[in-house]
Amino acid sequence: MSDADKGAGLEIEGARRDPGTPYGILLVDDEPAILESLKLTLGDDYRLYTASSGEAGLGILDREEIALVIADQVMPTMSGVEFLEKAIERKPRAIRMLLTGYSDLGSLARAINEGRIYRYLTKPWEPDEIRLNVKRALEAYELATENTQLSAALADANERLRAENLYLRRQVERRYAFDQIIGSSPAMERMFEVMEKVAETDASVLITGETGSGKDLVARAIHYSGPRKDRRFVAQNCAALPDTLLESELFGHKRGAFTGAHADKKGLFEVAHNGTIFLDEVGETHPGMQVRLLRVLQDGEIRPLGSSKTRTVDVRVIAATNRNLRDDVATGRFREDLYYRLRVVEIELPPLRERRSDIPLLAHHFLDFASHKMGRKIHGFTNAAMDRLVAYEWSGNVRELANEVERIVALAGDTDTIAEDMLSEHLRRPAAPAGAAGGAAPEEASLNRAVDALKRRMIQDAIEQTGSKTRAAEHLGIPRQSLQKMMKRLGLP
Ligand SMILES: Nc1ncnc2c1ncn2[C@@H]1O[C@H](COP(=O)(O)OP(=O)(O)OP(=O)(O)O)[C@@H](O)[C@H]1O
Ligand SMILES: [Mg+2]
Repeated sequence: MSDADKGAGLEIEGARRDPGTPYGILLVDDEPAILESLKLTLGDDYRLYTASSGEAGLGILDREEIALVIADQVMPTMSGVEFLEKAIERKPRAIRMLLTGYSDLGSLARAINEGRIYRYLTKPWEPDEIRLNVKRALEAYELATENTQLSAALADANERLRAENLYLRRQVERRYAFDQIIGSSPAMERMFEVMEKVAETDASVLITGETGSGKDLVARAIHYSGPRKDRRFVAQNCAALPDTLLESELFGHKRGAFTGAHADKKGLFEVAHNGTIFLDEVGETHPGMQVRLLRVLQDGEIRPLGSSKTRTVDVRVIAATNRNLRDDVATGRFREDLYYRLRVVEIELPPLRERRSDIPLLAHHFLDFASHKMGRKIHGFTNAAMDRLVAYEWSGNVRELANEVERIVALAGDTDTIAEDMLSEHLRRPAAPAGAAGGAAPEEASLNRAVDALKRRMIQDAIEQTGSKTRAAEHLGIPRQSLQKMMKRLGLP
């Protein structure tokens, strides 16, 4: 029988008008009797479509939602296997079954082995067996469909996560942007100019400055405003680890390189590949480490501990120190060649007491931050309180100021202005030395402050150098008791 001449022989059968619920099944066979009997077997639980040739079947596949295809193998114009292979292109997810007599089983091996056919049904069939097979096939189809939907949902979620990630990254960037570095003193303005220029380049930067002066902040701002900002910024404090551990941290190690090295480990230079590494307190490194650092800076080469092979990395180096490295070079404590490699550009952060005009700005900045954080409504400082803040020595620099303001806010209670008596005692004492209090003229007061500042610094230096109060007193040429009294008055611990 050839239904090809009967206008492709399409019949759309038994389609239940409730779309979505029943699955579509396409039956392809050139014998109308077989189609009829299959329809009877499957009943009206499905949307059944029939076609009397492969060509007609493909037409239906193009237009309809089909979950399962059952095709007869022996048909005049296109065999069942040929038809099913073409069906894959049109409906890749539809389940395919082949109907065949026992005689042509051999020719099916290939199709079945390639997994193109879900199951073959033998002629003549047991109606129950067909029903069961169809049910199973549709369950498989449902699972596959669900799978696809889940994958799509997952891809969606991934996309959202990526967007969120990007958002967080932007937050970090903003947090470390230049404008988070407060300061409008000429010294800071000059520093911003240098930072801006250097951020665009790959030049090594050495940041120097006392503790708490903002070296960390500046290093991050340089990274996050330059072309490497989407890559990693990794920081390592070189003073924090003993030599071997620091080496393994920076350059990595092979398993077994030393006791406790249970597995290979990537070093930070590799982690920071294409990004930036921040070597904090680089002045504390030992000679061996200095040689290795020189090698990375010169050739971009690292060699993990216990490995015989070197690797090449592309890492921008920013280093910081609160030591005077030039002195260390002079005394041979720090390699000169490394020093010059590190300080292609040097950024010197002046101590806070040398940019006192920044203090009000910073104090207000930290006040806003702390009152916001603690839910207080403190708007500012009395003039007298601000005078104290501006006059103080701040040996701990910006960090000390930030801590002082935070402490005040925490203890402030119900007030909207910070008054002098809320400041720490050592802040209040030195600027009001005995005798200069009361009716002292402003110049006189500031002279006293300057003298106190000088005394404080000399005493601190002497104690640091000599290691004891007795020797410091000798060094300064004053009796020990006078030193003790003076220290108490100046608020020195
Ligand atoms: N100019 C500034 N504007 C705003 N905050 C600052 C500024 N400078 C420093 N800070 C803040 O002060 C604190 C100390 O700064 P940072 O950690 O950068 O100092 P550091 O020089 O690295 O100190 P250390 O030598 O002790 O490591 C940080 O909380 C930092 O955010
Ligand atoms: Mg630091």
